[in-house]
Amino acid sequence: MSETFDLIIHGGAVFVPGGPVEADVGVRGGRIAGIGDLKSAKAEARFDASHLTVLPGCIDEQVHFREPGNTHKEDLESGTRGAALGGITSVFEMPNTDPSTTTAQALADKVTRATGRSWTDFAFYVGASPENADNLGVLEKLPACCGVKMFMGSSTGTLLVADDENVARVLRSGTRRVTVHSEDNMRLDERAHMVKDGADVAMHAEWRDVETAVRSTKRLLRLAREAGRRVHVLHISTAEEIDILRQHKDIATVEVLPQHLTLAAPECYERLGSLAQMNPPIRDARHRAALWDGVNAGIVDCMGSDHAPHTLEEKARPYPRSPSGLTGTQTLVPVMLNHVHEGRLTLQRFVELTSSGTERVFGLKGKGQIIEGYDGDFTIVDLRAERTITNDWIASKSGWTAFDGMKVTGWPKATIVRGNIVMRDDEVLDTPIGAPVRFIESE
Ligand code: DOR
Repeated sequence: MSETFDLIIHGGAVFVPGGPVEADVGVRGGRIAGIGDLKSAKAEARFDASHLTVLPGCIDEQVHFREPGNTHKEDLESGTRGAALGGITSVFEMPNTDPSTTTAQALADKVTRATGRSWTDFAFYVGASPENADNLGVLEKLPACCGVKMFMGSSTGTLLVADDENVARVLRSGTRRVTVHSEDNMRLDERAHMVKDGADVAMHAEWRDVETAVRSTKRLLRLAREAGRRVHVLHISTAEEIDILRQHKDIATVEVLPQHLTLAAPECYERLGSLAQMNPPIRDARHRAALWDGVNAGIVDCMGSDHAPHTLEEKARPYPRSPSGLTGTQTLVPVMLNHVHEGRLTLQRFVELTSSGTERVFGLKGKGQIIEGYDGDFTIVDLRAERTITNDWIASKSGWTAFDGMKVTGWPKATIVRGNIVMRDDEVLDTPIGAPVRFIESE
């Protein structure tokens, strides 16, 4: 008797560990149950992936979906819909909502809100604060928690752990890798006078300068070493930090963003104004080139989008009252596939940055690779498709992307989550079936 699957993906180039093979993939009960020639197998559903590439489901490890508190900018439904349209199968959502996600109740509330409304699988960060610093070891182990997020520099929201004593308390509490926004808040405060009302938005990168990032990252690494704690340093934006982190790969993993790899000052501020304003800022081409070196030298471990929507009205306020953050979960895959097309990184490296690297950094259970027994999560892409990214494709409630008008080669054709086709040909399908991501180090 021939084997039976719920879904068979036929005839694609399947990116198993080590590189692509011509194979069919069968999913049963949400898990990968067969890789090989499945022509004679039976299936409830079939997906013809001829001429397409079947990648492990891309994971966006950094999104801000604004629910609860600021759902006029985004919510868990619209945010994950954008992610699915962009080829993302799982998102890790940030704690700087209103209220901040600093308690077990706030985390459970997000899981309840996401259930039945999320198009992708999901996990949530717990935000570190001086109030919960000693309890983070308990909070980080809760179901659907991807770990602790610590803001050492203030950004959108109220979360902040600025001084060495409290940073050390956070690093001593718990065992999982701590995820960090690394900008030195003391230096930000000292220099805040530089950005008075009406200042040019290009001043953002002068105020939040290289030294602001470097000083914080050096402090973090020293304190992490003293505490014997692993850290994951988010959205690295400077050449200097890449050099520093090179020497600390035993305890530190590194994230970069598509916007820091793609845009550069001063051009981005001249062209986009506050739509290019984010923390840490987009810097000049020297830093961008160093980030690419970090990607290709293996110093960078994984990537997120830092999807941080604000409405166009909010963005139109005069700098510095314009809020910081760019949308990005929907554009991560096409923007990065275009970089693959243009030869800036290999497809192998793209896969590591968006799935297997994320699996390693966060200790995912059953996600991040195309292996039998793993979840049936796939990002099916057409590496040759020529498309233009436009605002009217963007599902985010904020309705804009800094990449509006960008021509790309490489496009997500389908998003499959545990064997469910949630996006095909730029449309979401059926109902939101997202479920919590599982982690090795949680309960
Ligand atoms: O630019 C940013 N915006 N950086 C952050 O760290 C937070 C984010 C937001 O939530 O708006």
